[in-house]
Amino acid sequence: MAGKVDVILGAQWGDEGKGKVVDVVAPDYAVIARFQGGPNAGHTLIFDGKKHVLHTIPSGVFRKNVWNLVGNGVVIDPVIFLHEVKGLEQAGVDVRSKLLISRRAHLILPTHRALDAASEADKGEAKIGSTLKGIGPTYMDKTGRNGLRVGDIERPDFMDRYRALVAKHERLFGIHVNKPEWRSKEQEWLDAVQMLRDFHLVDSELWLHEQLRKGSAVMAEGAQGTLLDIDFGTYPFVTSSNTISAGACTGLGVGPSSIGKVIGIFKAYSTRVGSGPFPTELHDAAGEAIRKAGNEFGSTTGRPRRCGWLDLPALRYAALINGITELAMMKADVLSGMGTVRVCTAYKIKGQVRDSLPFDLAEGAEPVYADLKGWGALDAARPLPPEVEAYITFIEQAVGVPVRIVSVGPDREATLVREVASVPR
Ligand code: GDP
Ligand code: IMO
Ligand code: MG
Repeated sequence: MAGKVDVILGAQWGDEGKGKVVDVVAPDYAVIARFQGGPNAGHTLIFDGKKHVLHTIPSGVFRKNVWNLVGNGVVIDPVIFLHEVKGLEQAGVDVRSKLLISRRAHLILPTHRALDAASEADKGEAKIGSTLKGIGPTYMDKTGRNGLRVGDIERPDFMDRYRALVAKHERLFGIHVNKPEWRSKEQEWLDAVQMLRDFHLVDSELWLHEQLRKGSAVMAEGAQGTLLDIDFGTYPFVTSSNTISAGACTGLGVGPSSIGKVIGIFKAYSTRVGSGPFPTELHDAAGEAIRKAGNEFGSTTGRPRRCGWLDLPALRYAALINGITELAMMKADVLSGMGTVRVCTAYKIKGQVRDSLPFDLAEGAEPVYADLKGWGALDAARPLPPEVEAYITFIEQAVGVPVRIVSVGPDREATLVREVASVPR
């Protein structure tokens, strides 16, 4: 029987703990494939007392007998990529032999990064809060049909193509008030491109179909989260790719009928980094307590993450848009010791209560809360306390999808799998 592509994706605003879950389930898969985003992602894995943060490389890289594929939907900065490879090699990880890169993946140029910075600086207060990795400008060139792809580095006229794109970017700098310097980054980038040639560059969609034909199980690893999706997120405060399950089809070249499970990852609360609406955001001691207990600082930029209560209308929306078949609840331990845990069940917008996401959350959505009983310390070796089970049941009934994985600490081992039946709504 042909293999299936299961999808793991963020059901909130990113940083839900996707990397940890992919690492936990990776031994069940032959291939782990990133399908969108780029080094704006920061996926943290902790095991054997060591922490690793991955930006471009899939989170199956620490497991034996697992292929790791950087799919066509991903955008790659060769400098960041090589830095990541070197860090892993220094840690004794054999990266090269099990890593494949799609020829169709687009390249992030130093000028893309400079354009990202120029655009954000010009926007001032209205900035997106981008990670400044050049993501937006690179996807703009992709859809504008000007981009450079990994496969282009194998062409004899690569430098001509590179110079033509840079010339276009230089003209673009003309529309910006702020013009960051980028020339000093060029040689390092060109050197990194040279080294990229030594990796397995493949026609990944064909390779992947061959694996599926042989019956291999594939896991598609999402980056960012549903509310940062270019179509369904809190536009314009979003990233520039489809972070949702449909993105796995376009970002890997597989049809919807190949998709198996869709696993939505969410934190027991909410966080967001960067600008944009966030109805349940806390500006008080409770928010500070979550940031501290959850160590909520960006894995890529180090920025403090904005923290707030769980938002069920948003989670339900994510379940709908992605076709989520099961959920993983992360960081339940972070809420330990709170007497009461709040959950947003609906929004009040201009006096009207609604439990679905409006066109524009930025126009002011006041959360309507349910208060649930908090819990004490959690331990993966013990059954979940009844208060956590009650919290989970409340979520399952509101969203209509079972919570199968519960994470109670950052380490690989701090993970519980629940037996779940279907959830009545
Ligand atoms: P990703 O981008 O979705 O992979 O998530 P990040 O790695 O950016 O952020 C998740 C953070 O939470 C990382 O620092 C993880 O080590 C940490 N983490 C993941 N699961 C848990 C958990 O259950 N409890 C705690 N306390 N930390 C966790
Ligand atoms: P992972 O995969 C959280 C946010 C940025 C900004 C917006 C646009 O680790 O969950 P971009 O650089 O993509 O143009 O920034 O998206 N953002 C993320 N937030 N986790 C991420 O990735 C993110 N990647 C981008 O903060 O608000
Ligand atoms: Mg992250």
